[in-house]
Amino acid sequence: MAALTVTLLALAGVSCSQASDCSYSALLNHLKLDATNSGLQIERPVKNWNTITEVQLEMILDSILDVDEKLQTVTIHIYVRMYWINEHLTWNSSEFCGINILNIPVSMIWVPDIIIQEDASETANSHDHPLVSVCPNGKVSLVKRLQLTYICKLNLFRFPFDSQTCNITFSSLNYNNDLLKLVKSTNDSVLMKLSGLKMLTEGEWKLVNMESISYTSLIQRSSLVYQITLERKPFLYVVNLILPLLFLLILDLASFFVGVSSGEKLSVQLKILLSIFILLPILKDILPSTEDSLPVMAIHCISVFTLVWINVLETMLISLLKDVVCCVGEEQQNAEVIKVKEQEADNRNESTGVSGTDKPEETNSPLDLPGDSRELKFIMDRTKPGPKTPETQKNMQKSNRLRWVQIFDSVFFVLYFATVVFTQAFLFGLWKVYV
Ligand SMILES: *[C@@H]1O[C@H](CO)[C@@H](O)[C@H](O)[C@H]1NC(C)=O
Repeated sequence: MAALTVTLLALAGVSCSQASDCSYSALLNHLKLDATNSGLQIERPVKNWNTITEVQLEMILDSILDVDEKLQTVTIHIYVRMYWINEHLTWNSSEFCGINILNIPVSMIWVPDIIIQEDASETANSHDHPLVSVCPNGKVSLVKRLQLTYICKLNLFRFPFDSQTCNITFSSLNYNNDLLKLVKSTNDSVLMKLSGLKMLTEGEWKLVNMESISYTSLIQRSSLVYQITLERKPFLYVVNLILPLLFLLILDLASFFVGVSSGEKLSVQLKILLSIFILLPILKDILPSTEDSLPVMAIHCISVFTLVWINVLETMLISLLKDVVCCVGEEQQNAEVIKVKEQEADNRNESTGVSGTDKPEETNSPLDLPGDSRELKFIMDRTKPGPKTPETQKNMQKSNRLRWVQIFDSVFFVLYFATVVFTQAFLFGLWKVYV
């Protein structure tokens, strides 16, 4: 083994010493790489023009910086690596002291004109790597790291439980399908794993899937599409919006058990309504006004707001009804008290003028005793069941009406409770079930 190693080392030494020059410039001379050789920069690097240049492309997601719901754009950092064969740049590494990689400025050779169709970023954002790497077999690799803002039509129906899938389409601007072909070089799952490892910041979002498809576009350009699926982390919105709304709704239900008479119930409910008003601007800041189908979140807010509003109206109606019942009763009572007093006065007049035995009531009475009739009648009046006296009758009617009002209130509460439970269940179903 030792002998073999020594022989190999000697061979390597020999091969190195055999080369005339171990500097890069010898290789550059061999490849005719200098600023004056414009052919290398202009031509697609094939010896026969019919040969298709195959550009392998891979993309790694580095960080998710921002998703703008209003502008419908996503900002990310990506690494893009492209490989292609330059048939003019080949050498035998053993002839050049084993040089097996050469880094040269991008400006010296031809590079494919690949663009991103959904790109909405300012051009200043793309930092071209100044160098490309060339291997002895002519394989050129170009790496770019860029901040990409791309257009993505966001579907916010299930906000904040939404996930967004958008395309990043790479394609050549000028070369047709039969001259330049874009293909994927690495398995999607590997790229996805690499992205997960390299991820610097994700913010509110999580990368859940990355898939690439290559196809030919309508204008005969070879294209490679990366479909990126991002999922929102909904925690912040659950804490900020959904739970407060739910708690306010529960408070609103509980307000049925607060005393109506003192006006406390109404003030509690109005406060709940105002609290919802405070929550609404958060939603306005996030959701775009151009949304065609209203997001479930907006429907949720509107439904809670409407329910609480209806509840306030009902409380007002009940308190109005109670006021009416009470006051109308009292007015009638007052009127009747006056009447009774007038009657008593009349009776006294009659009793002084005419004999009491002429009265029909007294003659009909079974206990018609001449002497004690007046006293007995008084006793009977007092022992008679309540409703016959006008005052208790009025009280009964009043409490009857009050009972109706209370029944109305209870029925409303049951209906209200059912509506609240139903709408909430329906909306949460929409959120979680539909994709
Ligand atoms: C994304 O690209 C795929 C493949 O070409 C296509 O089927 C899909 O409709 C595209 N999606 C969008 C939103 O453009």
